[in-house]
Amino acid sequence: MKVLSLSAVISSFVGLALSQDVSLAAVRRAFNTANIPTDASLTFNPSVLFEVTFPQTSGPAVNLHAGIQLPRNATVGPPLFSVRDSFLSPARSFVVAMVDLDAPTPQTPTSAQIRHFLGGDFRPDGSRTRTEKLSNTTAAISNFLQPTPPAGSDPHRYVFLLFNQPQGFDQQTAVTATTSIANFNISQFASEVGLGNPIGGTFMLVGPDPTS
Ligand SMILES: *[C@@H]1O[C@H](CO)[C@@H](O)[C@H](O)[C@H]1NC(C)=O
Ligand SMILES: *[C@@H]1O[C@H](CO)[C@@H](O)[C@H](O)[C@H]1NC(C)=O
Ligand SMILES: *[C@@H]1O[C@H](CO)[C@@H](O)[C@H](O)[C@H]1NC(C)=O
Repeated sequence: MKVLSLSAVISSFVGLALSQDVSLAAVRRAFNTANIPTDASLTFNPSVLFEVTFPQTSGPAVNLHAGIQLPRNATVGPPLFSVRDSFLSPARSFVVAMVDLDAPTPQTPTSAQIRHFLGGDFRPDGSRTRTEKLSNTTAAISNFLQPTPPAGSDPHRYVFLLFNQPQGFDQQTAVTATTSIANFNISQFASEVGLGNPIGGTFMLVGPDPTS
């Protein structure tokens, strides 16, 4: 037990130093601490490290680790997706979702969830390198929307989830480009279209622009 907890401590320090997530246990812990599985009605036992990267206009891209707080101006996106330390079959497709659990404010999330991204047909590059990029070949159902928490709000939780893509997903009509992005329910959508539980995820906290 001692050895296990020490390695958990070490890997969380390594996670800080490298910035991206390096431990599934640490990701799961961060989700639980932030109350995400409860608030999103999800079972979250990730089996892959899902990496989300925000390119920056100047300087290096920002890799998320679960629970990172970013200034809004670092989240212009669109984000890039990859999986780390796990090799997914390039013959398989994956669905990515991003939701805001705290709109308009964490205290009164009456319009949550806001669907900030939803897209299918993400395929790993098959490179079998440490980080395999996921790229999509079809248009997203909901294109990426940059976080815009209202002035005065506490930071919101923006959650990224990776799912196995079921057969026939491209024909689903539960959510389309014209479906309101407000009052979305990722858990309900997942059960409607047969996504199962997420296989990976991460999240960031973003507050309003200091000037807003
Ligand atoms: C974001 O805004 C902060 C000030 O609030 C500034 O220091 C920083 O350089 C800006 N970053 C980008 C990527 O524009
Ligand atoms: C692919 O995903 C990106 C977001 O990562 C999205 O902006 C784009 O519309 C999607 N579709 C295509 C064909 O690239
Ligand atoms: C979202 O859907 C789940 C069913 O998957 C349900 O248990 C939950 O209450 C719903 N959440 C909201 C806020 O309606």
